[in-house]
Amino acid sequence: MISISDQHGLIMRIPNLVKWAGGKTSSLKSIVKAVPKMFNNYYEPFFGGGALFWALKVENKIKHAVISDVNKDLVNLLLAVRDRPNELSYELDKYRDASGADAYYKIRKRFNETRTKELLDTERAAMFLYLNRNGYNGLWRTNAAGEYNVPYGGYKRFYLANDNDIRFYASLLKDTTIMNATYEMPLRNAKKGDFVFLDPPYFRDKDSNFVQYNAHMFREEDHRNLKKITEDLTSREVKVMITNRYCAEVSSIFGSFRMAVFKNRKPINRIGTARSGFNEVVITNF
Ligand SMILES: C[S@@+](CC[C@H](N)C(=O)[O-])C[C@H]1O[C@@H](n2cnc3c(N)ncnc32)[C@H](O)[C@@H]1O
Repeated sequence: MISISDQHGLIMRIPNLVKWAGGKTSSLKSIVKAVPKMFNNYYEPFFGGGALFWALKVENKIKHAVISDVNKDLVNLLLAVRDRPNELSYELDKYRDASGADAYYKIRKRFNETRTKELLDTERAAMFLYLNRNGYNGLWRTNAAGEYNVPYGGYKRFYLANDNDIRFYASLLKDTTIMNATYEMPLRNAKKGDFVFLDPPYFRDKDSNFVQYNAHMFREEDHRNLKKITEDLTSREVKVMITNRYCAEVSSIFGSFRMAVFKNRKPINRIGTARSGFNEVVITNF
């Protein structure tokens, strides 16, 4: 949920655009505290639900941003919101009454039948948003054939972004560069004074059962690679902030940077219980 006040000081609450497994809404307060006061361009290459980006954007803290994700369907949605908000709302209207499991599985089937289509497809963007909101827990999971196979979430309240929500998000995405890429690519252009926020899939060990976002798992060597990239960005005087689960391995990989540990009360799959939560860390090079 994003809260903004209008010109009369009235608070409006806009539901998050997508529900995203590993999304940072629940730990936003601790993360926002670590954001540098001043920076030039903003980079977020593990965008997902983009909780920090939206929060900084409504506060007018971001001038130009480059946001990206490896998930092609998520990026297709973001492009549709930014470039074709009216068309997207029109497509979403087709699903306003599509509540319940039968409707969900029918739309999921149609989504999978059209999966070979390239980016810039508004119809698929609308289906993606519908499935994200009504599928289980904001998960993105595909089978070996690349078909989206998340089961119906069974939520009591049916929600689908309305025209105003889409226009609100479209206005926030204006002047934002959106890319479908792995994280290394956009970071090549980051320059002195820019700020990079890295929120990768969290470190996974034998005791944790983290979400697999796509066909490729994010492994220990990927976290080590992120550390190398952070060192390179540091030498180019780019400010970097990374979030991760706090554990011995993460502490050892990123040990040369500043770390602030905080407790997240929300359990993520099986790493934390509802009572204990789990420890998260914000790693910075500034
Ligand atoms: C923890 S989620 C980000 C959550 C986000 N910060 C939020 O608030 O919703 C991690 C994201 O990284 C993306 N991802 C995974 N591997 C990637 C890679 N190699 N390059 C770029 N993005 C990747 C996933 O698709 C997922 O959206």
